[in-house]
Amino acid sequence: MTRDDMKKMAAEAALEYVEAGSVVGVGTGSTANHFIDALAGIKHRIDGAVASSEATAERLRSHGILVMDLNEVVELPVYVDGADESNRYLQLIKGGGGALTREKIVAAASRTFVCVADDSKLVDILGAFPLPIEVIPMARSYVAREIVKLGGQPVLREGFTTDNGNIILDVHNMQIMEPAKLETALNQIAGVVTNGLFANRPADVLLLGGEDGVTKLT
Ligand code: A5P
Repeated sequence: MTRDDMKKMAAEAALEYVEAGSVVGVGTGSTANHFIDALAGIKHRIDGAVASSEATAERLRSHGILVMDLNEVVELPVYVDGADESNRYLQLIKGGGGALTREKIVAAASRTFVCVADDSKLVDILGAFPLPIEVIPMARSYVAREIVKLGGQPVLREGFTTDNGNIILDVHNMQIMEPAKLETALNQIAGVVTNGLFANRPADVLLLGGEDGVTKLT
């Protein structure tokens, strides 16, 4: 079984969290893409979806799923998205695809965040995956210097602009012992839009695809 098969299994298992007649929050990335493809099979049962990126919106529309603006939606019972890493407390690193800010907004606005991933994403300590930080372009050098003071090594994601017109700094060599504290500290740096730690609002459910099927962590 490939990693992609495992992502697909986890994504399909998330369908059971989708409530009939609701609007569904949808994440970004290869695992979220599997979820979108599965969601297409039950599209007649939902009112529409809120997308966490332009790429996701496009894929949803290609399946004939109505994409709604978050501002038009009163209730978002479920948000389904992948992750780059998760610890056992369901605190995540996200943003490998660069969509972290919109992902964090839709996750925050949702009642239940269902994270879907293959089981290689479960780690003891977050930080082996470089932590993405979305930054206003004029603040790039200043933010990078502040990150070095916090012990990280920021690397500009070359040739990449977020859906919000900003840059991404990927921070290497951080062993993140206190994810919620670091998430808050990074967001205090002027020029940071947000960072890819989802620790103050972790996932509520983690569905991990593996050789033996899907394991659920809560
Ligand atoms: C997108 O910005 C990310 O947060 C993704 O959710 C994360 O990178 C996981 O991606 P895959 O599902 O492609 O592994």
